[in-house]
This record gives sequence, structure tokens and C-alpha cells, in this order.
Amino acid sequence: MNTLTPGSAPTATSADHVTITPSILYFGTPVVLLSTENEDGSANLAPMSSAWALGQAIVLGVGVEGQTAHNLRSRPELVINLPAPAQWPAVERLAPLTGRSPVPVAKQGGFRFERDKFAAAGLRPEPSELVRPPRVAACPLQLEARAARVQPDVTGMFLIVEAQVLKVHADPRIVVPGSQHVDPARWSPLIYNFRHYYGLGPELGHSFRSRTPR
Ligand SMILES: Cc1cc2nc3c(=O)[nH]c(=O)nc-3n(C[C@H](O)[C@H](O)[C@H](O)COP(=O)(O)O)c2cc1C
Repeated sequence: MNTLTPGSAPTATSADHVTITPSILYFGTPVVLLSTENEDGSANLAPMSSAWALGQAIVLGVGVEGQTAHNLRSRPELVINLPAPAQWPAVERLAPLTGRSPVPVAKQGGFRFERDKFAAAGLRPEPSELVRPPRVAACPLQLEARAARVQPDVTGMFLIVEAQVLKVHADPRIVVPGSQHVDPARWSPLIYNFRHYYGLGPELGHSFRSRTPR
């Protein structure tokens, strides 16, 4: 039985918790903007929040019906661009768009086809050094990458993409001077928290493995 079928009122399961059936489980992960290459050599750009780092790879969950999935299956190069919190309006301008034409059935109603997502979002493309899709100039972190493994998830609705990072571009203002480290006090990802946008709050502490303690 699917225990996550949306219901109506919460059920009390203990003194401390209720059982709920939320329609989505997006508990707060960074937003990335994925640049990929279309068949005709133009660039597509799409926001994704199913993204996390595994060593020098980024694992992504990409809906099978979109243009990004279509592109990555045949052209594995991509750029994983990380916007800052203040850039959320540009991300949201991309939210109702797809680079796929015709618009997939599941997206009809809420989405429209857009060929030039950079222009639609008001974002400037900047050439990459090692891959064909461009970087998003305004993003403080840009990861040039290659999809080393692309496989369907258990539902068949998503592709799980393991993207090997080839080169990292960072805005010097978020780098600890004279080091290879991103300064966590100067960098904040844009967080997608149950479909609302947030930045990070003040630091709470650091891991014993931090290379940038204060
Ligand atoms: C903030 C945000 C996060 C998103 N995260 C994902 C995600 O992790 N995976 C996914 O498949 N779609 C995600 N989407 C939806 C895609 O951006 C959307 O399906 C878009 O149409 C894909 O564009 P494309 O068809 O040109 O690839 C997200 C949308 C927004 C606005």
C-alpha cells in the first residue's frame, strides 16, 4: 500500500507527532540551474532542486519528460549553476517554462514552451571552458560537468543523473583569499523549501572537518 497517498486531516500518532501525507517531500535542498545542449546546438536552462554532492559528482533527479532529460540522454555535457538567494525571481521566471516542444502532456496547462530560457529569465550566458553548454554568468558558483551515468529511477518518472564535475568556477568574493575554499560565511545557496525560496540563516556551528573555521 502506498502510505504517502495524500489524505485530509492529520492523524495523531503520539504526543509529539502527527502522521501527514504531504503531496511533495521537498524538505529544503539547493536550487541549481542546469544548462544543457539542445539538438540544434542552442542552450536549455532549467531549475532543479533534487541535487546533492557525492565527492566530485553531483547527483540529480530530472523528470523524464522535460527537455533537460532529453538533452542529457544524448548529449551528456552540462553546467550546474548555483544561484544566490537574491536571484530567486530569475529562477521563478523559469519555473513555468519548458524547452520541450510540444509541451509534454503532464505539463500542459501550467507550462509553456520557451526556446530562449536565458532571455526569458533575464540571465546572461557565458561560454564554458570544457563543455558546450554555457554557464549562467550571474551565478556565483558554476560547475562544468559530464553526466557519467544516466538511469531511470524506480518509478520511471525521473532520471537519476550522476554528473562528474570537471571544473569549478567561483566568484572570487565567496572564496577565502589565497585558498581553494569557498567561504561559508560569504556563500549561501538558494534553498527550495516545500516550494518556497529561502537563503541560509546565520552560522550555527561547524563540522570538525571544516577547513574554514572562524
Ligand atoms: C525551484 C525549482 C526546483 C525544481 N526542481 C526540480 C527537480 O529537482 N527535478 C525536476 O525534474 N524538475 C524540477 N523542477 C521543475 C522543472 O524545472 C520543470 O519541469 C521544467 O519545465 C524543466 O524544464 P525543461 O523541460 O526545459 O527541462 C523544479 C522547478 C523549480 C522552479
